[in-house]
Amino acid sequence: MKGIVLAGGTGSRLWPVTNVISKQLLPIYDKPMIYYPLATLMLAGIREILIITTPQDQSAFKALLGNGHQFGITLTYEIQPKPEGLAQAFIIGEEYLAGDSCLMILGDNIFHGVGLGHQLEETLPGIGAHIFTYTVSDPTQYGVLNLDSEGLPLAIEEKPRNPTSNLAVTGLYFFDNRVVEVAKQVKPSTRGELEITSVIDWYLQRKELTLTQITRGAAWLDTGNPNSMHDASTYVRVVEERTGLKIACLEEIAYGQGWISKEELIEYSLRFKHNDYGKYISKLLI
Ligand code: TTP
Repeated sequence: MKGIVLAGGTGSRLWPVTNVISKQLLPIYDKPMIYYPLATLMLAGIREILIITTPQDQSAFKALLGNGHQFGITLTYEIQPKPEGLAQAFIIGEEYLAGDSCLMILGDNIFHGVGLGHQLEETLPGIGAHIFTYTVSDPTQYGVLNLDSEGLPLAIEEKPRNPTSNLAVTGLYFFDNRVVEVAKQVKPSTRGELEITSVIDWYLQRKELTLTQITRGAAWLDTGNPNSMHDASTYVRVVEERTGLKIACLEEIAYGQGWISKEELIEYSLRFKHNDYGKYISKLLI
């Protein structure tokens, strides 16, 4: 299975902050936003990841993350010329995916919870589609999933005015290797985007959609506007200070997965030796 981080978009809700920089490069407390979705994919055991960005931001992502070897992963980059919808990622990624299934995550989605990584590894099916829902108080801002009386997916609605469920579809999606062909069949919506909802619906109609309801012990935050970015930073700060453990420290995850050696970890800790991030990494070796 391969991973995709979709990190393009306009970021218009964050203008003027995002006038000259991608939203996904902005900090969420002590690290760039994109570290969090990358961490989720790495915790799911994925080592081959495609990062899709706008044309103007690609060089900055490459400067930040390189080819991924410092995290024990292989990063590849592609461009989305215009923000024409989440489902376009699969068309852009066709050559990269080369017939593999994929786990896609949006560049502004943060997942945090005990055992989420193992849960991901265990629950992902080999075939079909799998989505992750989260109970929210105001579902009108999200894609919303309705379930039948047996708890099976019945219908998915994009930003419903009168939602009949409070299960929001989060920005983490598994699709099998038919997804590229499915995405190619999708027609642009009235807002001119290739909607991910249409791709999910294709699998739903064939009864090939399964789901994980993220439990209330875990957090799902999307960080698209000033308040949610600020909230996410506060969340990360509070949890990190309270527990002494970092969320989405990619070097730590890579070391924990056995993807980088002790010597490499020492080398990386020295790069940031004057700050808390570097001190944290060096403490992992004690
Ligand atoms: P959104 O938050 O829906 O859009 P945006 O990031 O452009 O922000 P705004 O609404 O404030 O203008 O996007 C969700 C995530 O998906 C985000 O990480 C950007 C990414 N995205 C793309 O990479 N390409 C796209 O075509 C779209 C629509 C989103």
